[in-house]
Amino acid sequence: MINSATAIAHPNIAFIKFWGNRDSELRIPANSSLSMNLAGLVTRTRVTFDPVLTSDQLTINREPASTEGMARVKMVLDLVREMAGLSCFAQIASENNFPTGAGIASSASAFAALSLAASAAAGLQLSQQQLSRLARRGSGSACRSIPAGFVEWQAGFDDESSYAYSIASPEHWDLVDCIAVVSETHKPTTSSEGHKLADTSVLQAARLADTPARLERCRRAILERDFDSLAGVIELDCNLMHAVMMTSSPVLLYWQPVTLAVIHAIHNWRKSGIPVCYTIDAGPNVHVLSLAGFADQVSQLLSRIPGVADILIAKPGGPAYLE
Ligand code: DP6
Repeated sequence: MINSATAIAHPNIAFIKFWGNRDSELRIPANSSLSMNLAGLVTRTRVTFDPVLTSDQLTINREPASTEGMARVKMVLDLVREMAGLSCFAQIASENNFPTGAGIASSASAFAALSLAASAAAGLQLSQQQLSRLARRGSGSACRSIPAGFVEWQAGFDDESSYAYSIASPEHWDLVDCIAVVSETHKPTTSSEGHKLADTSVLQAARLADTPARLERCRRAILERDFDSLAGVIELDCNLMHAVMMTSSPVLLYWQPVTLAVIHAIHNWRKSGIPVCYTIDAGPNVHVLSLAGFADQVSQLLSRIPGVADILIAKPGGPAYLE
């Protein structure tokens, strides 16, 4: 019997970052993190278990996937097969609606959509917590793309205790992420490689020691819709992660000159009264957070900065869902 399911998931942007693993195989992170799903940007994944297949087959944006990508997907499929008592192979077709190569991390939405589609196609009815744990095995940040809106990932200490849950719905706060896409030529170090270097920085221990306090500040800023407080804590958290990256061995330096130009501009705009702040993942793009009423103004200002190649705009997004 052929069994198919299609799932949709959004990427997310971390306000309190996950950097470093306590267990890299199970992807148990060194610290808890907090993020916002990005509405409008989606990965759509169809999984079909078919007894006729002689191996798993994966296409990403209609192209055959790399060996590395295939291995990670197979790992999640094997977990699903084990849970469902299934032995047949699967065909997986995954597509992003956001430009590939624009540097928007797609592993979070990809593994969230894969986990939901594969488990449904296998006839499993997993709880949100189980799905979040499954997605985590493919890519840590993917566990945060399963629940809706503003999401906290409790680090936990083992497979069962490490999962994400929603702390506020997408409608709770009309934040907007204007993503300033910075064109980049050379190949960046992937997050998976980067996590392994976190402990080579003497700053990682200090970053981790202070994370519970930043998490609490960030959670409260969201629940109380306090933009100034959010701005302070997410810029601090971002700079701490990049300080760890810049002092790792080998050095990880993701910022480009345009990245820094955008940071300086944001500080000036904030001084002039615009509610705006930044955060940056493992790449040169700047996620510029503001309130919905200021999104047009902020994206116009960003478009005038030389080197900003594109601007994507996203509101808080919903959970992963079956189509
Ligand atoms: C900087 O979840 O991409 O975006 O588990 O190896 O796939 P893997 O790592 P990933 O790491 C995300 C790192 C980050 C910060 C964050 O999203 O919390």
